[in-house]
Amino acid sequence: MRPAAPFRVNKPIHLMIGHMADTQEDSFFATVRTEGYFDVQLDTVQRFLAGREGPVVLVTSGGTIVPLERQMVRFLDNFSAGTRGAISAEYHLHHTHLKMVPTERRLCHLSASTIQSAALCSSLPTRRRIGPGHYRHERKMLVSVHFYTVADYLYLLQRIGQMLAPLGRNAMLYLAAAVSDFYLPESQLSDEGTLTLRLEPVPKVIRPLVKIWCPDAFIVSFKLETDAALLMDKARAALQRYQHHCVLANVLTERRHHITIVRRADPDIEIRSENGEIEQILIDRLLTLFAQHRQ
Ligand code: PMT
Repeated sequence: MRPAAPFRVNKPIHLMIGHMADTQEDSFFATVRTEGYFDVQLDTVQRFLAGREGPVVLVTSGGTIVPLERQMVRFLDNFSAGTRGAISAEYHLHHTHLKMVPTERRLCHLSASTIQSAALCSSLPTRRRIGPGHYRHERKMLVSVHFYTVADYLYLLQRIGQMLAPLGRNAMLYLAAAVSDFYLPESQLSDEGTLTLRLEPVPKVIRPLVKIWCPDAFIVSFKLETDAALLMDKARAALQRYQHHCVLANVLTERRHHITIVRRADPDIEIRSENGEIEQILIDRLLTLFAQHRQ
């Protein structure tokens, strides 16, 4: 495991690898720099998880950027408004079972397009109505962690995945963030003058997540396509390749109304919503599958 990075206010954190890079992820982490306040954020996650045995859900949300310069002004972005993750975290948190529609988006800060987040929610033991009196309680049930670059995201996913591993089957990972497929290694970031782009592939971290970092958790990934004809084959291929539990297949233009839950051995579950928020039905079905996984 990578050693903890020193925390310095307002300064980039350079993460060091303490051993030879021997996997694709190690090679990736060895060629990028992650910036942020991760020690503080990870401490908060650790405190949130301390002594918790009940089900915990990690929801990732938003796009991941790829810096093009060392002093970053320009970057590439992956499309995501963060809406899916924010609404999903809210339904996870309130464990609604279709009985009510929230009157406000309490977690709207998770959907701001400039802030990408991972939210850790602890499912409430009983159904609850959203009301002002519950807000303090809600805060104890949720912690959010922010990231910007694809390197930040993958680093946090690794560390938080490893922290969730002791929960075994009581952890669920719901990966709605849009993860960049390509990146620029640190050595090729532009300092000045011309910029020549030769992007390298980002390793698929879902593989070590399932096999090594958090092997007993219920892992749900999304598959986004612009071409509906390609979607289902790609979703099934991802499940076979990574051997996780569900792929939530969605087409970009229909993502608010139609999602298919694809599983390895069981029939597909079609989720459709014409009027309400599709996440409400989706999370309800997923929590049922998660409960089966935990038995
Ligand atoms: O935020 P909204 O505007 O509401 O939109 C929601 C959404 C369309 C972004 C969301 O529903 C969605 O589909 N998110 C996943 C988009 C995506 O990154 O798909 P992908 O095909 O690139 O990746 C598939 C899976 O592989 C992802 O779950 C990702 O966790 C995983 N992956 C991807 C790249 C990588 N290097 N490693 C990975 O593990």
